[in-house]
Formats: sequence, structure tokens, C-alpha cells
Amino acid sequence: AMDPKRQVKLNDGHFIPVLGFGTYAPPETAKSEAQEVTQFAIEVGFRHIDCAHVYQNEEQVGQAIRSKIADGTVKREDIFYTSKLWLTSLRQELVRPALEKSLKTLQLGYVDLYIIHFPLAVKPGEELYPKDENGKLIADSVDLCHTWEALEKCKDAGLTKSIGVSNFNHKQLERILNKPGLKYKPVCNQVECHPYLNQKKLLDFCKSHDIVLVAYAALGSQRLKEWVNLDLPVLLEDPVLCAIAKKHKQTPALVALRYQIQRGVVVLAKSYNKKRIKENIQVFDFELTPEDMKAIDGINRNIRYYEFLLGINHPEYPFLEEY
Ligand SMILES: NC(=O)c1ccc[n+]([C@@H]2O[C@H](COP(=O)([O-])OP(=O)(O)OC[C@H]3O[C@@H](n4cnc5c(N)ncnc54)[C@H](OP(=O)(O)O)[C@@H]3O)[C@@H](O)[C@H]2O)c1
Repeated sequence: AMDPKRQVKLNDGHFIPVLGFGTYAPPETAKSEAQEVTQFAIEVGFRHIDCAHVYQNEEQVGQAIRSKIADGTVKREDIFYTSKLWLTSLRQELVRPALEKSLKTLQLGYVDLYIIHFPLAVKPGEELYPKDENGKLIADSVDLCHTWEALEKCKDAGLTKSIGVSNFNHKQLERILNKPGLKYKPVCNQVECHPYLNQKKLLDFCKSHDIVLVAYAALGSQRLKEWVNLDLPVLLEDPVLCAIAKKHKQTPALVALRYQIQRGVVVLAKSYNKKRIKENIQVFDFELTPEDMKAIDGINRNIRYYEFLLGINHPEYPFLEEY
């Protein structure tokens, strides 16, 4: 259940704020604007910040967090910071060094949550997207259960409070859950989730194992041409979302965020625009009716904006399973 501090309890006893600030931006803005917008997000009330090694802006986001601690706006323990283990570091012996590198870049002593970014191990090295002659990622054969054991050790060492996964399908999650000698369950699975891909089955599966589903692209993604097929419809122009927004005197974006919170999903919202960052925190100021929720459930159409086709040939490519 949601407490007055707008958090939910994870299966390891820690708490996660139900609204998170997404920090991914294209390279032109990721470095130059991340610090300013993250500071602003903290000022207007965001307490959960979602970042990753591969976004290449952990230095700026870490600086933002440290400056809001230094000026007394927040204490470290008020902030929930997520980083992600990149695909070149899924080999067991590379996990802890990767987290230590993020911590050094951030200049923080720990992260709150460290998650496996994708279940797709690729060739280790400095290159973030090592590709073959067909432009597809070069797979590395790694047992995800071994990666998981290394994450468990990072938690025990205090480098991260909680550990989880991202972009895992239910079979991949099951493999971790059924691992002999499992010490900690994943606290979350962070996946694409919005009214056009509402992930009902994966959500039910996660709920049945006390795993929190964290929604990315909850506003329909940034529609960057490198990652998203721009022929797909624009989520925030959906007539049902627009009608519900109008009825509540809110925006379609707020309706899309509120929908997730009311169905027990932790939701991320990326914005690098101050007006919209401030708007998004208003998700706590209104409530959708059961009829609204049902109407939004009805517009699901299995549209995946981030297909990550670079990884389509990888034996662990997650999105061929139904859920
Ligand atoms: N685990 C993964 O593999 C993975 C993958 C993708 C994303 N993520 C995480 O999830 C975060 C969010 O996903 P996302 O980056 O795809 O974006 P998103 O949250 O779906 O947002 C998409 C776009 O909506 C716009 N927007 C924000 N607030 C709005 C509002 N109130 N009204 C109208 N438009 C609004 C933003 O543009 P402006 O900036 O111009 O406001 C943003 O570019 C990422 O930043 C990242 O932290 C994780």
C-alpha cells in the first residue's frame, strides 16, 4: 500500500517512491542539461531518480544530488537513486567493478537500487554497443544466475541497498527466482509500460512474487528515431486519455502517470523541461475513478516503442515471449 510519503515497500524491506524522475536524454542534452533539470526535479519534490551507466550522465546527475544535499534541500537518505549494470559487464567478475565505477562517477557512497539493464550479456570492453558486421550486438555467453549472485554480493557489501532487474520476461525472472541458493529476490523489474502496452500479465506475475513493476516510457517514450519506430501512434494524443484528462482538468500525461500508480506500478517520468517537470509532480493531486481505470485498460494494444532490435539475435532477447 502507498504510504503518506508516497512510497511502497520492496520485498527486502526498503522503500521506493512511486514516482521517479527519468534522466535519459539524447547525447546533445544528457550531459549539458542533466544537472540543472535533476536539481530542479528535487526542488519540486521528486525523490526517486532513475539513471544508468549507459546514459553517460551519472556525473552530472550525481553532482545534482550532492548539491541538493549540500544546500540542505534533502538528506542522502531522502533520495532513492537507481543505477543500472550495462550489458558489457554481466560477467560475474565485472559486476562489482562496474558498480564501483558508477559510485566513483556519482561521488556517492551507495546507490539505492542497482538493476541489470537488459538480460543480454554482450562482449566486454569499453565499447557500449559492440556490433557484428550485421550491426547486431555481439552476444557473450553468461548465465544470468551468475550475474545475479554477483549483485547479491554487492548488496551484502553495502554498495547498493536493493537489487533488481530490467527488461526481463517472466521466464527470465522465474530462472532467478528458482535459482538454487537464491539469497535475495529481485525487488523490481523495470520495463516499458503505458496504456498502449499495459503489461497486465507481467504485472500479475510480478505482484504474485512481491516484485515491483517499474514503468518506463510511461508517457509514450521520447520518440527518438534511433530507438523508436516513429510510425507508431503518439500515446499522449490518445482520445480516451485526452477525454479523461479533460474531465479531471488534468493533462493526458498526468492521467498516464496516475493510471500506473493506482494499479500498483512505480512510474518514471522523464522531462528536461521545467514546466513539465513541475506538472508531473501533480500526479498526487487527483484520482481516477474505477471507470476511468477500466477505460484506460481498454486502450491496450501491445505497442512496444522500445523494441531494442539491436539485440534481436541474442539468445536471451526478452521480447519474443508473450510476457
Ligand atoms: N530500463 C530501460 O531499459 C529503460 C528504457 C527507456 C527508459 N528508461 C528510463 O525511463 C525514463 C522515462 O522513459 P522515456 O525516457 O522513454 O520517457 P517518458 O517518461 O515516456 O517521457 C517521454 C517524453 O514525454 C515528455 N513529457 C514529460 N512530461 C510531460 C508532460 N507533463 N506533458 C507532455 N509531455 C511530457 C518529455 O519531453 P520533455 O523532456 O520535452 O518534457 C519526454 O521526452 C528514462 O528517462 C529512463 O530513466 C529505462
